[in-house]
Amino acid sequence: MSHLDDPARPAPPLGMLAELTHRCPLQCPYCSNPLELTRKRDELDTATWQRVFAEAAELGVLQVHLSGGEPALRQDLEALVASCAEQGLYSNLITAGVNIDRARLEALAEAGLDHVQLSVQGATAPINDHIANQPGAFDKKLAFAREVADVGLPLTLNSVIHRANLHQIPELVELALDLGARRLEIAHAQYYGWALENRGALMPPREQVMEALALVEAARERLEGKLVIDAVVPDYYARLPKPCMNGWGRQSLNVTPAGRVLPCHAAETIPGLTFLNVREHGLGEIWYDSSAFNAYRGTAWMPDTCQSCERREIDWGGCRCQALALTGEASQMDPVCERSPYHDEIQTLAIVDSKRDDDFTYRRFSRQSA
Ligand code: FES
Repeated sequence: MSHLDDPARPAPPLGMLAELTHRCPLQCPYCSNPLELTRKRDELDTATWQRVFAEAAELGVLQVHLSGGEPALRQDLEALVASCAEQGLYSNLITAGVNIDRARLEALAEAGLDHVQLSVQGATAPINDHIANQPGAFDKKLAFAREVADVGLPLTLNSVIHRANLHQIPELVELALDLGARRLEIAHAQYYGWALENRGALMPPREQVMEALALVEAARERLEGKLVIDAVVPDYYARLPKPCMNGWGRQSLNVTPAGRVLPCHAAETIPGLTFLNVREHGLGEIWYDSSAFNAYRGTAWMPDTCQSCERREIDWGGCRCQALALTGEASQMDPVCERSPYHDEIQTLAIVDSKRDDDFTYRRFSRQSA
């Protein structure tokens, strides 16, 4: 029986993150890309990405997030956007907004781009530029955001939040309103990959986090119908795990610049999994049949405590990469869960890290990805 006739087969994915390149002009200390970056010469070429988009549409994907690194460093970005449009895929460009001029933005809109998600590292130039380690970046981002509005594309503002910018949440809300964004995503730094190196510089104290969440809640109510604000309690201070990726292999997949297909951004940190490559395998085969996508799909893999928990199909066991980073085993309970034997330990760890005074270790791409 093929998976198409199998009633127990997984649903098709809805979204695909297309990581077009790891190259990036910024040097954020919480960079979520892997420690080992893909070089330019090893990136998928235009024709392969176009085939992948066709396979994604065939599989049932509705939205493609064109991401990186900085996707605008790909000279073929317009052709890739056009290819998404041809396949009927909604395209979202995730950009740092420091290297796209008006002519290029118009060309991207002309090619069929549907949405822009702009990252900001802070709500003011000194903080933004310090975190990105790039003088002048904030002014370029503001100018870009105004061009996005001018060209008529919908805009989401995304800010990764940590100790150095958490106090700016009210200003980020004002900035989003000022720039005409429809959505503001307040994403707490996730501590795997490069961010793990910087936990002692990034981890905020619990009281500051709780105050910030109260401010977000008040802003959400005040701005209902005007601005959507997404924010969740950061993992280390939560009692319940988040449904990472809405469940492993449930709704979305990531394609790396080199063509490996992952169930989540950090999946390559998990030892023992083999990730198939779109150069040799079809996206449908990878989604339905590959061992990596089936490793933590559903609930059968879960430890007993999770299997018997009424939230097992709400949080889907939390985050595998975090379980690995904090316990050494990807199949452990996510220690964010208060039922995990590691829960108290990570809360203590967060308190200790929030009191450290480390400097940022910046992510320098140029030497690794040329
Ligand atoms: Fe890999 Fe959460 S980041 S499962």
